[in-house]
This record gives sequence, structure tokens and C-alpha cells, in this order.
Amino acid sequence: MEQTAKIIIDGKTFELPMITGSEGERAIDISRLRQEVGVVTLDPGFANTSACLSRITFVDGERGILRYRGIPVDRLAEHSTFVETAYMLINCELPTQEQLNRFSVMLNDHSLVHEDMRAFFENFPRWAHPMGILSSMVNALRAFYPEIPERTEEEEINITVTRLLSKVRTMAAMSYKIFRGHKVAYPRHDLTYAENFLSMMFDSPVRPYDIDDDIVNALNVFWILHADHEQNCSTAAVRVVGSAKVNLYAAISAGICALWGPLHGGANQAVVEMLGQIHENGGDAAPFIARAKDRNDPFRLMGFGHRIYKTYDPRARVMKKVCDRILDKQRVRDPLLDIAKRLEEVALEDPYFIDHHLYPNVDFYSGILLKAIGIPLNMFTVMFAIGRLPGWISQWKESSDDPKWRLQRPRQIYIGRKERAYIPIEKRG
Ligand code: CMC
Repeated sequence: MEQTAKIIIDGKTFELPMITGSEGERAIDISRLRQEVGVVTLDPGFANTSACLSRITFVDGERGILRYRGIPVDRLAEHSTFVETAYMLINCELPTQEQLNRFSVMLNDHSLVHEDMRAFFENFPRWAHPMGILSSMVNALRAFYPEIPERTEEEEINITVTRLLSKVRTMAAMSYKIFRGHKVAYPRHDLTYAENFLSMMFDSPVRPYDIDDDIVNALNVFWILHADHEQNCSTAAVRVVGSAKVNLYAAISAGICALWGPLHGGANQAVVEMLGQIHENGGDAAPFIARAKDRNDPFRLMGFGHRIYKTYDPRARVMKKVCDRILDKQRVRDPLLDIAKRLEEVALEDPYFIDHHLYPNVDFYSGILLKAIGIPLNMFTVMFAIGRLPGWISQWKESSDDPKWRLQRPRQIYIGRKERAYIPIEKRG
């Protein structure tokens, strides 16, 4: 029997349809509320609002579950590669060997960036943040790769998706090389996606880069863990901007801008900066914890807390293990990892963090891993962006393919001044 919810307004009862998701999440469908009842809902931060129906990613924040297309993320981290996971997110199903081979060949075929784009890269100020550069360059891709009218819509989307997945990785490495004043390393057809990235970042004419399988694996895991996270801030930005029917490059560029913020993807950089400050402070985390708990201080413990997870973020668990593995292998003792572990222990026993359900999130250990791989601090959020690309693309595709597609346009409750007269400037006092 179809369930309904009742609301009573001014003594009148209205029935609203209810909808239940495949994992049991229940929602009241308010899409006709204003039309039929004459009121709207208010939900700052959209914490109680589902903006869409989606088949891509399931998150249960109470139980610490994250699945892409039904498959738990830790299974994917253990058995899959980033390219395979990206294929599945975008095309709904895991690929056959032949499909995967074809996809990998296409990614290699589109990995070069138009040479004229280098002039753009070279003219950004040296101190420009790579996220700003990346979002501008992704937007610029449309100019270099315009729509070809002879292609069908499906062909156009497929080629744009492939270009984005392949070129964003190339552009990220290119911006790093140019920033350092080094010779750009081109992508190579004989390397896998992750190997290629590492080679483009670190290979140099004076010191060839030795590709280490464990680092390649760690990078794959890092990107898989970031590949999608349902309607987070940047994905919501991609969907909202995409709903205006802009081209995919522009929608992804909007996602990159949103991800840049320290409350979202920028947190991985902020965590390492915070751990560095604790280290400089003699390793004592107590003053930082005290500041995080002080309501009058805007400081927050970076890498802690999540809008959805009210328990340990399942991605953080996997990330912590990979981090340990890589640092053990490198026989490096990063004092920041020791500080992070101590900080986690203290915070998890502190009543403030317990009462607020604040646990380590994906960014808490990811920065330490990136640092161990050799990624510079200002590239951390770019690494997140490369990982999140398949998620943004699949969410954009799902919303564009939706037969009930609508321009996304929230309402507001106006609480400003009522109508008043315009006072000429000479009469204002
Ligand atoms: N340190 C100290 N207190 C915190 C923290 C924190 N990291 N996070 C939340 N709180 C407190 C906050 O002060 C508030 O307390 P009270 O109710 O007493 O006023 C309460 O917890 C709820 O906070 P909120 O801001 O309403 O929660 P939110 O769901 O809007 O924010 C968040 C989620 C991720 C923005 C927040 O937890 C935060 O700022 N964390 C630090 C930044 C961070 O690590 N971000 C990465 C998120 S995971 C990667 C991603 O998805 O992008």
C-alpha cells in the first residue's frame, strides 16, 4: 500500500505521497506542496532535502556504509582499479575485459593536451593555486575541443567524458611541472592510468622515475575512495550548474571550484597544515583540541566530522591502512602520522567529539599518504578532483538523462524590508 504523510495547516489536513529508496530510506515527496498546499519547506544547508533519485552511490552515515553501484567501497579498493571503478560509475556495470581494454585505449588516445593550452599554463602566476588553474583550464577545454555537429549526442558525450578523465590527469601533472619550472613529461601509451600520472609528475630528464607497484596501488585506492560520494557540495554544484544545460566542461569546472573549499576537498591540505602546526608546537595536540571545542573559536579539527557520517568514515579506515603500508615499506617515520594517530585516539575518547559524533573522515589520513607518494601540498585537492571526476560525470549524466529533468532552482523565504519608497540622494541623511 502506498504510504502517505499528513500535514495540518490552518486546521486543514493534506496528504503527501511518500517514497522509499531501495535501502529503505523514506522521504516525503513535496514536489507539489506549493501548488497544492500553498507553502514551501525551509531547510538551510539541505540537510534534510533529497534533490534527486539516484542509482549511483549509497551512503549510510549511521552504519558507516559506502557503496558504488551496490559494491562496497572497501571491496573495490581491494580488487578494482580506478579506471575500472570509473567505468562502472559512468556505465552502471563493471566492464568485461574487452570493454575495459577499449576504455583504457581510449583514455590513452585522448591523454595529450592541445599544445596551445601550454601558453595558458605558463602565464598563470607562479603562486596561483593549482585548483584555480585546473578549474579555469577545464572550462577552457570547450574552446579547444568544440562540439562537432556531425557527431550524435551520445558520441559527443562519450568523447567529452573520455577527454575529461584523461586530460584532467595530464593537466594536473603539467601544471605541477610548469610550476616547478621543469620540462613537461608527456603521457605514454605503454603505461596504465595511475603509472602515467606518476611518470608525468615525477619523471625528469636527469632522473628517470622508477614506477613502484605499491605506490601505483596506493594511488588507485586513493582515487577509488574519492570516486563518488552522492550529493556532496561539489557534486551538487555539478548537478545545479549542469541543470542549466551548460556543456559538461563548464559543469565540471564548477565542481572543481566547490571542491577547492577547506570544508570540502580542501580539507586534505588543511589537515596536513594543522598536523604540521601541532608538530612545530612540540607535538602537543591538547591546545588544538581545546580550540576545536571552544564555541567562541571558529577553529575546527580538520579531517574530523562529516555531514553524513555519524560514525567512522569507511574511507578513512581503508586510507589509514594504506598509509601504514606505504610508510612501513618506505621505512619512513613521518611524525605527522604519529601525531594523527595520537590525535585520533584523544579525540575519540573526548566527550565533545563523542557527543557531536565527530570521527575521522577521508581527509584525515589521505594527506599523509599523498605526502608519502611525493605529491606537494598544494596539489592535494587536485588529487581529490581527479578521483572525484567519474562521480561528477556519472551524476551529471544521470541528471541529464532523467526524463523528469528540470532546471534546479531552490526557493527562499524572504525576510528583508517590505516595499518602501526610493529616497533621492540629497534627501538621505
Ligand atoms: N571540529 C570541531 N567541532 C566540529 C567539527 C570539527 N571538525 N565539525 C563539526 N563540529 C561541531 C560544530 O562546531 C557543531 O557544534 P555545535 O552543534 O555544538 O554548534 C556541530 O559539530 C555540527 O557542526 P556543523 O557545522 O553543523 O556540521 P556540518 O554537517 O554542517 O559540517 C563539516 C560538516 C565536514 C563541514 C564539519 O564537520 C567540518 O567543518 N569538519 C572539518 C573540515 C573537514 O574535515 N572537511 C572534510 C569533510 S570529508 C571530505 C568531503 O566530503 O569533502
